[in-house]
Amino acid sequence: MSKNENFSRLHELLDRINIGHEGSNQVEDKPELSDQLAAYILWLDSEPMIPERTYSIHFETESTSVQVTDLSFKIDVNTLSQLAAKKLEQDEIGYCKLSLGQKVFFDAYSDNQITGSFTIFDSLSNAMLGTGLIDFALRRAQNISWHETNINQETRSNNKHQRPCVLWFTGLSGSGKSTIADELEKKLYELGKHTMLLDGDNVRHGLNRDLGFTDQDRVENIRRIAEVSKLMVSSGLITIVSFISPFRAERSMARNLFNDGEFIEVFIDTPIEVCEARDSKGLYKKARAGKLKNFTGIDSDYEEPEMSEVVLQNSDANIDDLVNKILDYLRAHSKI
Ligand code: ADX
Repeated sequence: MSKNENFSRLHELLDRINIGHEGSNQVEDKPELSDQLAAYILWLDSEPMIPERTYSIHFETESTSVQVTDLSFKIDVNTLSQLAAKKLEQDEIGYCKLSLGQKVFFDAYSDNQITGSFTIFDSLSNAMLGTGLIDFALRRAQNISWHETNINQETRSNNKHQRPCVLWFTGLSGSGKSTIADELEKKLYELGKHTMLLDGDNVRHGLNRDLGFTDQDRVENIRRIAEVSKLMVSSGLITIVSFISPFRAERSMARNLFNDGEFIEVFIDTPIEVCEARDSKGLYKKARAGKLKNFTGIDSDYEEPEMSEVVLQNSDANIDDLVNKILDYLRAHSKI
């Protein structure tokens, strides 16, 4: 189906529920400049739309990144009723709040059908994923501006005599992430470096204790931790992040928060058979018995990294050797 046919489908549906002609009372005549908006989205891809995942959004003349920060409801196309939803499946229509990577000019769809519509693409593959019609601009972020501080990442780092970075560990449960991360931090500490270790199991006890293991929750888990690690790096710390982080899209989103060379992906490449044989927490056994749902590598995906800065094979390796490989990388790139 062509782009225009998809817009027509969405338009017709909104016609039936009487949206898009009278417009919202929050709409103004002139184009709006905003990075937050409310819109109807028709999702076209077979993989669902997940709130907080970063996609690419194309308007008539501009493109930027986008996250659905809130999926308010989806619409049952038969009864036109509003249904609660956590994600949008293929061919579903939802009412969403969007947050854009930068401010763009646009109109409400009720004012201008061309500048009031958009298309969503996959930020990695560029495949078309959905189309949308703008309801109105949200003004909630308009009174917030970035405040430059006297003391910044550079001064904080100079004060610590080091170059901060994030070492982002990814790998299956039981692959050895936490053990290697712990040992690495110890070595960095002995070298006099200032560090912080963010470990999935630990962060899920506090900041992320409201999150489980559905795809949506994992996306939000990684989004929060990417933002936290960004703050840690701007405080001048060498930050070690140890989360399964199973999806390419979120690892890429995390990487894009940092300057070139600051984000170092460390793939702990342990085959699932080895992780399962170790099963130090007994979770694989529970998952195989059907007592634990959405377990990574069993009934939840792990998308292997393709181009990590450091890849460690950890079937029967010596932990010191693996840690030394990371330290070698850091030395070779003048991080320590
Ligand atoms: S992530 O996928 O969202 O990045 P995270 O690293 O925070 O996961 O948490 C993984 C840890 O939670 C694992 O080390 C394991 O101890 C525990 N866990 C509990 N349930 C699951 C599950 N369904 N899938 C994976 N890990 C789980």
